[in-house]
Amino acid sequence: MKNVTILGARGMLGSDLCSTLRESGWSVNAVDLPEVDITRRADVETTVSGHDWVVNCAAYTNVDGAETETEQAFAVNRDGASNVAHACTELGIKLLHVSTDYVFDGRADRPYREEDPVAPLSTYGASKLAGEEEIRRVGGVHIIMRTQSLFGIHGRNFVASILKKLEADAATLKVVNDQVSSPTYTGHLAGAIRALLGCGNAGTVHVSASGECSWYEFACAILDETGLKGSIEPVLTSEYKLPAVRPAYSVLDGSRFTEWTGETLPDWRKGLEDYIRARSVHGG
Ligand SMILES: NC(=O)c1ccc[n+]([C@@H]2O[C@H](COP(=O)([O-])OP(=O)(O)OC[C@H]3O[C@@H](n4cnc5c(N)ncnc54)[C@H](OP(=O)(O)O)[C@@H]3O)[C@@H](O)[C@H]2O)c1
Repeated sequence: MKNVTILGARGMLGSDLCSTLRESGWSVNAVDLPEVDITRRADVETTVSGHDWVVNCAAYTNVDGAETETEQAFAVNRDGASNVAHACTELGIKLLHVSTDYVFDGRADRPYREEDPVAPLSTYGASKLAGEEEIRRVGGVHIIMRTQSLFGIHGRNFVASILKKLEADAATLKVVNDQVSSPTYTGHLAGAIRALLGCGNAGTVHVSASGECSWYEFACAILDETGLKGSIEPVLTSEYKLPAVRPAYSVLDGSRFTEWTGETLPDWRKGLEDYIRARSVHGG
C-alpha cells in the first residue's frame, strides 16, 4: 500500500486531502499541531520516517496577520518548509509542498506560468516564496504546487464568510471587483494532488480551478447558487483597505498540470456547487 504523511492535516486543504487519499486506498499518517510542529526539525524527522511521500499543507496562513507577525510567518513558511525538505531529502522521501499565487505581483495580463518572475507584495507571499526557495536549495525529489483562493468545508474562507453574513440577515455586502483569480474548491484540489503523487514528474506546477473571476463576481455567484436574500455591491481595493497588499490578477496557467497528469480542474462554478452541496451534508 502507498503511504503518505500529511502535515497540517486538520487544516482546510489537509482535511479534504486525508479523505481523498484514504478513499483511494492510501495509508495516511495525518498530523498537525500540536503533535507535530514543522518548526522543530526532530518532530518532522520522527513523523515522516518510513513513508513514500510527505505532503506539506502546514503553513502560517493569516495573510493580514503576517504583516505584524512576520517572524512567526517566516518561522513556519520558510524555516518549517526547510525542515520538511531536509527530513525528506535525508530519508529519501518524496515531497509535495503547497505554495501560493501570492508569490506574484499580479501585474500580468495573462495567466501566470511557473517560470514567470516572482515578486510578492505581502509578507505572507514573501514567506511562502522563501519556503519554495529553501526546498529548491535543499534538493531532493519534490513538487512545489502553487494554488490559490481556496475554499473548503473544513476552514475559514471567502464563501463561508459571505454565506454567514447573508444567512444572518439580507445584507448588502461590499466586495472588491478589481482582484481576479480562480477560486479553487479544496475537494477538487485534493484530487489534483492525488494525481500529482502518481504522475512521476517533479518541479514547480500551478494548479487551480478553471475559469477566472473577481471576488465580486464570485460573491454574486454565491448569491445566485444559494438563492439567499441580499445584494452584493462592487468596490475597488483602494476603498477596502487591508493590512496586506494582494495581487490584482493572479490567475495561474494550469497547462503543466494537464501535461503531467492529463487532468484539468473543474471550473470554479462547479467547485462552488460541490462546496455548497458538501456544506449542507456537513450541516452548514
Ligand atoms: N487558503 C488559501 O486561499 C490558500 C491559497 C493558496 C495557497 N494556500 C496554501 O495551501 C496550504 C493549505 O492552506 P489551508 O487554507 O488549508 O490552511 P489552513 O486551513 O490554515 O491549514 C494549515 C494547517 O497548518 C497548521 N500549522 C500551522 N503552523 C504549523 C506548524 N508550525 N506545524 C505544523 N502545522 C502547522 C495549522 O494549524 P493551526 O490551525 O492550529 O494553526 C493548520 O491546521 C498552505 O500551504 C497555504 O499557504 C492556501
